[in-house]
Amino acid sequence: MKILVLGSGGREHALCWKISQDKTIEKIFCVPGNSGTSLVAENIGLDIMDNEEIINFVKQNNIDLTLAGPEAPLVNGIVDEFEKNNLRIFGPKRFAANLEGSKVFSKKMLWKYNIPTAKGEIFDDAEKAIQFVKDNSWARIVKADGLAAGKGVYVCKTEEEAVKAIKEIMHAKIFGDAGNSVVIEERLVGEEASFLVFSDGKTAKAMVSTQDHKPAYDNDEGPNTGGMGAYGPAPVITKKLHENAMQNIMLPIIRAMEKEGTPYKGVLYGGLMITEKGPLVIEFNCRFGDPECQPIMMLMATDLIPVLEACIDETLDETEVIFRDMASCCVVLASGGYPGKYEKDKPITGLKKAGNVPDVMVFHAGAKNHEDGIFTNGGRVLGVTGIGKNIRQAIDRSYEAARLINFENMHYRKDIGAKALNRS
Ligand code: AMP
Ligand code: GLY
Repeated sequence: MKILVLGSGGREHALCWKISQDKTIEKIFCVPGNSGTSLVAENIGLDIMDNEEIINFVKQNNIDLTLAGPEAPLVNGIVDEFEKNNLRIFGPKRFAANLEGSKVFSKKMLWKYNIPTAKGEIFDDAEKAIQFVKDNSWARIVKADGLAAGKGVYVCKTEEEAVKAIKEIMHAKIFGDAGNSVVIEERLVGEEASFLVFSDGKTAKAMVSTQDHKPAYDNDEGPNTGGMGAYGPAPVITKKLHENAMQNIMLPIIRAMEKEGTPYKGVLYGGLMITEKGPLVIEFNCRFGDPECQPIMMLMATDLIPVLEACIDETLDETEVIFRDMASCCVVLASGGYPGKYEKDKPITGLKKAGNVPDVMVFHAGAKNHEDGIFTNGGRVLGVTGIGKNIRQAIDRSYEAARLINFENMHYRKDIGAKALNRS
């Protein structure tokens, strides 16, 4: 089989690496890819948002299956376009991808089907939204409806902050049309977890649970990032909570989408808050998380492609999805300045030594090939991902490898996985 992976992050390197372990795969292409994907796939310089260009490439190269890493091509309708051309692709169609692409749609579905989530209201009028936060002291989370490059959620402490958020989104339109509507909700208290499932539109199979680390610095301080590290399994998701999340959240939303005539096929990522009352949905994503995908791929025992095919062919209930009874931890090495304006084009040293640490994979993200070696090319540069018999061992291996790598002004969190250790 020939496979095409779309994207250029640590997630896509982890996906290409996992697919490359499968002996039945003859060739992997990655658009546009990075220095890491170039080790296991052929990088192709096309635009992942140009459906026509991608479809022509797939036809010319007889690609059997395409997999989109990020949300943007999915919300841009790449799956619908592939299906019109009778080409195989894994992921939700444009409308189903709205579970991530529109927070208003997602919230309406959660409310309609009584799936546990934060209480709140939806507004398309800024003045009414402002009045609402003035009248309700619990309403302090303001979310732009559409995709906003991970920046559309404001977690506010005061009324003034919430009013400012509404004005930025709805008056100043800093996210453009993504800010035509907002969801305003209560602040949930608890520990967050990433609960990802594969779905074939009718049923779902869970992946190993993970936990992301969004704030830039140790002890969850500093500005939010795309994720500074992740580990799995997440002990906050006990067996009981796992069952609860499957029965009360993931399966109900998949059945709801089917009932609405828009079956959800692909990876569904439930961003959950584990509260005293049980798990509540913070958000859905229509794809693998990054960095979560890195520990998940390290822990996945079954080959990935047969599972993706089962989702397309609606045979997931008869397909095995097995994860190793081990733990994995990914530490993200970031560029100076990230998540603000960051530096690029710095040479990276120590990659070979780090790669020789047993049971560690160094996944590349914002990194590129250069005639003098591998250079930085983005905010999150590498995901150093270790695997071990328990979380302690996985953490130790990742940090042992991370310490061997260097580039100017590199920074990383020293406490990835600490929450899991506190629970064990
Ligand atoms: P998102 O961009 O949708 O991933 O949201 C970013 C982050 O905002 C989440 O990971 C949470 O930490 C936080 N957040 C979103 N909604 C809520 C909520 N209702 N209560 C508390 N935190 C929230
Ligand atoms: N790591 C969070 C995300 O992928 O959305």
